[in-house]
Amino acid sequence: MPPLLEMLGIVRTFGAVRANDNINLTVQSGEILGLLGENGSGKSTLMKVLYGMLPPDSGDIRFRDAPLDAKSPFDAIKAGIAMIHQHFMLVEAMTVTENILLGWPGGGQVLKHKQMAEHIRQASRRFGLDLDPDARISALSLGRRQRVEILKAILRDAELLILDEPTSNLAPTEVRELLDIMRRLRSEGKGIVFISHKLPEVLDVCDRVVVLRAGKLAGEAAVASISREQLAEMMVGRNVPMPRVTEGEHRRGALRLSVRGLSATGLSAITFDLRGGEILGIAGVDGNGQLELAEALAGLRPVTDGIVLIGDHDATQASVTARVEMGLAYLPADRSHTALVKAMTVFDNLMLRDSRRPPYGTRALLTPKTGVARARDLMAQYDIRAPGVDFVVGQLSGGNQQKVVIARELSRAPTAVVAHQATWGLDPGATRFVLDQMIALRQQGAAIVYISSELEEILSISDRIAVMAGGAIAGVTPNRNVDLRQIGLWMSGRHA
Ligand SMILES: Nc1ncnc2c1ncn2[C@@H]1O[C@H](COP(=O)(O)OP(=O)(O)OP(=O)(O)O)[C@@H](O)[C@H]1O
Ligand SMILES: [Mg+2]
Repeated sequence: MPPLLEMLGIVRTFGAVRANDNINLTVQSGEILGLLGENGSGKSTLMKVLYGMLPPDSGDIRFRDAPLDAKSPFDAIKAGIAMIHQHFMLVEAMTVTENILLGWPGGGQVLKHKQMAEHIRQASRRFGLDLDPDARISALSLGRRQRVEILKAILRDAELLILDEPTSNLAPTEVRELLDIMRRLRSEGKGIVFISHKLPEVLDVCDRVVVLRAGKLAGEAAVASISREQLAEMMVGRNVPMPRVTEGEHRRGALRLSVRGLSATGLSAITFDLRGGEILGIAGVDGNGQLELAEALAGLRPVTDGIVLIGDHDATQASVTARVEMGLAYLPADRSHTALVKAMTVFDNLMLRDSRRPPYGTRALLTPKTGVARARDLMAQYDIRAPGVDFVVGQLSGGNQQKVVIARELSRAPTAVVAHQATWGLDPGATRFVLDQMIALRQQGAAIVYISSELEEILSISDRIAVMAGGAIAGVTPNRNVDLRQIGLWMSGRHA
């Protein structure tokens, strides 16, 4: 049997960058293929070529044993390919059924609302999607919205589904459910391309993996025959273990961040003190107040009660800029909306906070020479892979966009750091780099609030661990002989 998909000798360049350099890739029906590789290695580009979003410079694609030359996603969908994007294209005020009818070929008239609702119910049952056709999108979790996109693909008879980092902002239970849905799709004979930086889930669900490195094929393996260490090595040329902070190797400094009874919408009575040289890891299932806490600390969410002290300053009502002046650095989870101006260059984004002060500039005037040298340094130091400082940030790979924010925020020698999902979308090497940076800042005396749904990272770098559930802190423990069962109970909101 010929493969479901065959990509042959795909080349796609952007100026001097060879994003895809002669790539061959096959996917069988009933196979889940993991597409792996470092940030900027060319994964999304290859899938955009397949989906008709980017024309290749050269190469051939065969799909269902016929040549495929998709000039747009519309062509790809018609051929039986679906791509599930990270930012869903759903109308929030409408129901599941209404959304599906909206983009239905031939218009909604052909298929009546009631019939469609019935189709949805059946498909939902068959693939374990657990979707109510009458549910309004605005009432659905991220994971459920993603399933609406998957449902759309199923109802349009897609034979191949492309999932580009679908798990990065899902809660752990939703990740497990998504992997189950992928297995159902596989058992129905669908082919799936799964892009993820999270090796455990890749090993859990994939049949085979293909690894890209700097735009080239770097390796291929059956999952049954490969370990996590081998996989990491294939991706970055070395194994990248987690670092570990050790206690007592440095002195605690002065009080840097003091939070007392902090309340806001979705957040109730958060209290903790953080000294210089301390990392407080905040664990928890996503959606339990972590975003609210990060925003309240950064000055982006109105505080309804309580106080926040940064150093000696009362920051409770201070603006974002005033908090930055007090020494706070903020790494938001949603970098593309709150931390980057995508239409601006790497240079502009790196200098966003410094452009008005010496030595880079005074008032609105920037001293480009000093600034450019600094921006180049930061690019090298933080391994931001871009052709130059004048490159537009929106054209960087997802992980490299994240590195721009990290470089800007952490290089300013902050005294306090609030990091929320700092390694979201980063490959294992870059993840390790961020954790090392946190440890280095801790050594330099910064106080760090490290909010993450990755328990492994929390355990790796924290001095203390707090667990959030239902907008409050359910429990706190020093990071020493941690009782994981207890952490799990706190996460589930049970105070046992
Ligand atoms: N529209 C574009 N214009 C210019 N360069 C681009 C564009 N899209 C991608 N690139 C470049 O192509 C290379 C590959 O990027 P791609 O987004 O495919 O990486 P990726 O493997 O998906 O990375 P990540 O894991 O960070 O998402 C990068 O160097 C990127 O800067
Ligand atoms: Mg990508």
